[in-house]
Amino acid sequence: MTLTTPPRPKRAEQLLPKECYMSPEWFEREQQELFSRAWTFACVAQDVPEPGDAYPVQIGRYPMFVIRAKDGSLKAYHNTCRHRGTKMLEEKANCRHGIVCPYHAWTYNPDDGALRGLPKKDLCFPDLKMDQLGLHKGGIGQIGDLVFVNPQEQPDEDFETWCAGVEKTHMWPHDISMLSEKRPVRYDIMANWKAFCENAMDGYHLSYLHDKTLMGPDVENQDWDDVGRHWVFISHGESPSRSNTHFTPIPGIDTSGRHPVVWQLFPNSGILASSIFFSAYTIVPVGPEQCYLELRTWMMPKETRDPAKTPTRPSGTSGHGHIMADGKRYISLETLGCPAMESLDFQIEDMWVCEQQQKALQSPLFKVGALADQGETSLTFFQANVLDFVPLEGPGVKLAAE
Ligand code: FES
Ligand SMILES: [Fe+2]
Repeated sequence: MTLTTPPRPKRAEQLLPKECYMSPEWFEREQQELFSRAWTFACVAQDVPEPGDAYPVQIGRYPMFVIRAKDGSLKAYHNTCRHRGTKMLEEKANCRHGIVCPYHAWTYNPDDGALRGLPKKDLCFPDLKMDQLGLHKGGIGQIGDLVFVNPQEQPDEDFETWCAGVEKTHMWPHDISMLSEKRPVRYDIMANWKAFCENAMDGYHLSYLHDKTLMGPDVENQDWDDVGRHWVFISHGESPSRSNTHFTPIPGIDTSGRHPVVWQLFPNSGILASSIFFSAYTIVPVGPEQCYLELRTWMMPKETRDPAKTPTRPSGTSGHGHIMADGKRYISLETLGCPAMESLDFQIEDMWVCEQQQKALQSPLFKVGALADQGETSLTFFQANVLDFVPLEGPGVKLAAE
C-alpha cells in the first residue's frame, strides 16, 4: 500500500466515524496497518551510553529493544527469542557479552543480532541452521537525542521521509545532557488513543479547560505548522503559567516570540518544550477505549534552583498518583485523591475531558457537530494521516465516512 502524506487541510472537518474511537475491529486494523509500520519514540541516546547498553520498549504489539553496538551505532531488535519466542529483556541492562534469553540461554550478538551460541547444541539441535535464527531487526533513527524505532526492518516509510526535515526547520534548542530527568509518569486513560492525541492537538480548548493551569494561549495567539505528518504547535509568546515559576530557566531557550511548544510526531509520539522543561511522550493504545500516556521530563538540576524561591511542600503531597516498583508514578482518575479539575495538573484535566468524551460516544446521538477552523484543523490533519495508513475501505470493518 502506498503512503502519501496528506496536505494541510484548509477547513476543519471530522473525517473519522465514531466507530474508529470505540470499535475492536478498527482497533485491530490500527495495530496491523498503522502501529506495525509506524515510527515511535523509544528512548534517548543517554539511556544507552555504552556499548552493549540495551533499553527495552513496547512498540504497538511488538516488544523491542534499542542497543548500542561496539562501533557506537544504535540498533533496534525485536525482544523475542528465536527459540520459543520468549521476551528476553525486561529492563535496562548491559548486554555487551551477549543478549542471553533467560529461558534456555540462547545467546545473541549485540552488534548484528546473530545467534551466537546455545547450550547442548550438538545433542539437542544437531541440524540447526544458526545463521537463520538471528534476532528480527527493526528500523531505527534519531532526531537529536531522541531515538525512534519502527517494527519493520525496511519500513514502508523510511526514517528521513517520516522526519520530513523537522530537525532542520523546527528543531528544539534543548540539550537534555545538561538537564536532569524527573520521575517518569504514566497516565492511565479510559479513552481511545486518538481522542487523547486529538486533544493534544486541539488549540481551541487551552483557555477554557485549562483556565487554571495553562491559561491559553488563545486561538488568536497560536498557530501550527505541518511538517510532513507532524503537527508543530507554535505559541506567540510564553503563557503566564510557564513564566511565573520558581523553576530555574534553561539557558539559551528564548520563548519571548513565535516559537514551537509541542511537536505531535505522527502517530503517537510527542515533545513538549518550554523555557523550564523538556518532555518526550508516547500515547500508547491499550484497547479501543483505553490508552496511556508515558511522559518523561527533564529540567535543570535541583541544585541550580534558588532555595529561597522554591516552595516547600509537606512530605507525601508532591504530585499525584502512586509510585510503583518500576520507579514510575502512575496516575489514573480512579485513584486520584481530588476532583480532576482541582488537580492543577493540565494532563489530568486532559485525561478527564477525554474520558468524558469517550463516555458520551456510547450515546446513539453522539456526533461531532462542527470543528473550529481556527484551533481544530489539526484534528482533520491528524485524522487524514490515520486514514492514509488505515483507509476506511480496508480489510475487515468497512466504515462509511460521515
Ligand atoms: S525461548 Fe529463548 S532460549 Fe528458549
Ligand atoms: Fe489540553
